[in-house]
Amino acid sequence: MQSGLFITFEGIDGAGKSTHIGAVADAFRRHGRTVRLTREPGGTPLAEKLRELVLNDPMDPLTEALLMFAARRDHLQQVIEPALAAGEVVLCDRFTDATFAYQGHGRGFDLQVLSLLEAWVQAMPDDTVRQPDMTLWFDLPAAVAATRLASARVPDRFEAQPQVFFERVSAGYAARAAAAHHRFVRIDAHQPLERVADEVRAALAARTWLPGAGA
Ligand code: TYD
Repeated sequence: MQSGLFITFEGIDGAGKSTHIGAVADAFRRHGRTVRLTREPGGTPLAEKLRELVLNDPMDPLTEALLMFAARRDHLQQVIEPALAAGEVVLCDRFTDATFAYQGHGRGFDLQVLSLLEAWVQAMPDDTVRQPDMTLWFDLPAAVAATRLASARVPDRFEAQPQVFFERVSAGYAARAAAAHHRFVRIDAHQPLERVADEVRAALAARTWLPGAGA
């Protein structure tokens, strides 16, 4: 059996990451892999209920961070760990880097407390902390993302934030990327869609997960 793979997709709202997840799924499926597409907050019935609350109801930053991690714990236990144990490729639209970027850098919540929650929630039986094998970070200037979001649907609590909030979130992603450069791949999202897709394909080809990588 092949070993499981955990790949996460990150970026500020409007960066366009969701568009590329399906293509990555297709590439793995063409190579015979079973793919599990999922998202955070969410991915289980309980975590999807928490998502509704956290995206829409007013709350303080600690409550927000705790709900993100509560949803994550359920998602890890019910979906992510079983899928990885079965050798599947788990493609997750956002994970803990989003909590550091949004709750930490965006809202200004204590990064050390977030690190503690990360260690608890993602603890593995062998005392290591579960982390993605690769994180594709779609990096787009906050000003460009703002113009993209302006034409989008009714904004949720995060999408409604001002540009300066997303500048802090971007800086948060940059800090996480610098601290975990072995798993982070920065994708320049400020280019035409096909060029962004090329960068995503190149990021996958650079690993040995897709032989020949004709994604
Ligand atoms: P998003 O992927 O943007 O969903 P959609 O494309 O359907 O709008 O994620 C929802 C929001 O949740 C996004 O604004 C970022 C926020 N978020 C956090 O603030 N912290 C987290 O830990 C996660 C996972 C998401």
